[in-house]
Amino acid sequence: SRQIPVPEAPMGWASWNAFAAKVDYNVIKKQVDAFVAAGLPAAGYDHINIDEGWWQGTRDSAGNITVDEAEWPGGMKAIADYIHSKGLKAGIYTDAGKDGCGYYFPTGRPAAPGSGSEGHYEQDMTQFSQWGFDFVKVDWCGGDAEGLNAKTTYQAISDAVAKATATTGRPLTLSLCNWGYQNPWNWAPGMGPMWRTNTDIFYHGQTLSYASMLTNYDRNVHPTAQHTGYYNDPDMLMAGMGLTAAQDRTHMNLWAVSGAPLLAGNDLTTMTTETANILKNTEVIAVDQDPRGLQGVKVAEDTTGLQVYGKVLSGSGNRAVVLLNRTNTTQNMTVRWSDLGLTNAAATVRDLWSHSNVGTPGTSHTTSVPANGSVMLTITGGTEQSASTYNGTASFSGV
Ligand code: DGJ
Repeated sequence: SRQIPVPEAPMGWASWNAFAAKVDYNVIKKQVDAFVAAGLPAAGYDHINIDEGWWQGTRDSAGNITVDEAEWPGGMKAIADYIHSKGLKAGIYTDAGKDGCGYYFPTGRPAAPGSGSEGHYEQDMTQFSQWGFDFVKVDWCGGDAEGLNAKTTYQAISDAVAKATATTGRPLTLSLCNWGYQNPWNWAPGMGPMWRTNTDIFYHGQTLSYASMLTNYDRNVHPTAQHTGYYNDPDMLMAGMGLTAAQDRTHMNLWAVSGAPLLAGNDLTTMTTETANILKNTEVIAVDQDPRGLQGVKVAEDTTGLQVYGKVLSGSGNRAVVLLNRTNTTQNMTVRWSDLGLTNAAATVRDLWSHSNVGTPGTSHTTSVPANGSVMLTITGGTEQSASTYNGTASFSGV
């Protein structure tokens, strides 16, 4: 059964990066309130996703999940209701196997063996939907440990999600989280609209690194799998969690040129205005959410470490570009129209962080890019070299 694709890559906030398994009603409620106060909804963010830790692996005699009412007064329905009361969508989490990852990453609370959905896919997905959840992330710690086949397992979960939706009438978006294991880009499109392509950028107890963010970006490029409604997922965002502002901007640029899900992961109650403004750059977000839904790919790397990424946007003759300088010195970098499948010298070049049009008409654009930094542009109003190739649903073949 194919799920109805979601038209744009999901956006929102997820609890794992900031809170690990230490989540309860009050933690989530405060994040919801901060999310709204920061103006994230107006920028397009609309999901609040509760990640691992909400459940400790207990079921009643009928096999239904039970939660600790001291931590979740009114049960999980109450927090879903609160999220909905702000006009937002609610997300929840489980594992494809018997055990959740807390068993492997016991951060902040005891391991929770048994907190997976194996043997209960239909029951749990229906329960999540009945509680009011709109989104479910299904992790792979138990599945991996048990040596389950990811494709058949997630197909069963996807079928359970479809049945839950049929029962409740409420769409439930399935987010697959098997970290690129068993090549989900070859089979996940259609089981759900998004699938993780790599392990985590950041593990609790380790130091967040810019290099790790870039690794997730590099491992996420599977352009033939991505088209409107189906998205490679390079992991939740680390913006506001310890990288520099320039690194956070590059993180946003790379996720946006990928057309990736944008799920902030920082503690929104302590977010700086600078981080909020990075997350809320609506011109960058518009590239991410472009309705054609294609993935950007590398279109040139004339000198090692000076990489040009291009993304075909909707309409005719429109592109997004990231100039990524992976060297340790400031560099002039050039994007050529010919590498973007464009011919028209009169195209408009716009810098998505200065929010201004830049450059004079030509068949390329050159600009200074900081060391270990990036520049993001759109090039619009160009002429397609080959309308049949780039005016359809094809991404670049890349270099
Ligand atoms: C592994 C996933 O990749 C993370 O995003 C997070 O959900 C943790 N598991 C939770 O334990």
